[in-house]
Amino acid sequence: MPSWDPQHYLAYADERGRPFIDLLARVGATAPRRVVDLGCGPGNMTRLLAERWPAAEVIGVDSSSDMIERARTDQPDLSWVQADVREWREPADVLISNAMLQWVPDHLDLLPAIAALATEWLAFQVPANFGEPSHTIPIELAASGEYAEHTASVELPGSHAALDYLDVLRADFEVDAWTTTYLHVLRGADAVFDWVSGTGMRPILQALPAELRERFVTEVKARLRVAYPASDGVVVMPFQRVFVVGRRR
Ligand SMILES: C[S@@+](CC[C@H](N)C(=O)[O-])C[C@H]1O[C@@H](n2cnc3c(N)ncnc32)[C@H](O)[C@@H]1O
Repeated sequence: MPSWDPQHYLAYADERGRPFIDLLARVGATAPRRVVDLGCGPGNMTRLLAERWPAAEVIGVDSSSDMIERARTDQPDLSWVQADVREWREPADVLISNAMLQWVPDHLDLLPAIAALATEWLAFQVPANFGEPSHTIPIELAASGEYAEHTASVELPGSHAALDYLDVLRADFEVDAWTTTYLHVLRGADAVFDWVSGTGMRPILQALPAELRERFVTEVKARLRVAYPASDGVVVMPFQRVFVVGRRR
């Protein structure tokens, strides 16, 4: 998988943090012993789990060494493990995963195995904006002309409808699933590019050779500016997300 840049990712920490808080608000656990954050990224949100349940052992898990290193540096008092969710087998009273499963191909098939690790509560959130211009513009451009041969085998994130997740989990969990569209108000004419280049667009950018990447970036920025016009230096980016919270029956 292409590498992550924790600093770039944290540029929109406030906007990216809001769904984590909204997700957590629906988890009713009172005294969990072990809480695991799967795909914890730089660990800034995992900190909220330790604040909510101070007596719990809180473990952040991520496959990216850069992310785990950043988490370890910023939050040395929590536990951090570099591991792939596809191989993670440790049970937890509360299992949280914020904005990670979209990176795992066929994650709907993997969901029963992940859910089996949650002894009381399972809660996850995935972006559901892959049909928006913020994603379709770079994807369509990457599939055209000279870019195509470099990007053909790039794996991009994806997610399912809330109902699909609910259907997988409903036999074992009381499920609370919903979608929310946030209207992110971002500063700067290229703010949408800055946002997606730190997450969903990374695999495409990293697949392109440097000289093509520069041209690609210029073209994508120009198209995104048309799709998300700035007014007084501010751009509004609608962003839909799917939330699923399950309490084991
Ligand atoms: C968009 S970030 C979300 C980080 C954090 N949960 C947050 O809410 O800010 C996605 C994270 O998922 C991690 N990730 C992607 N695929 C993974 C996998 N198969 N196993 C574990 N972590 C994975 C990435 O390394 C990255 O840190």
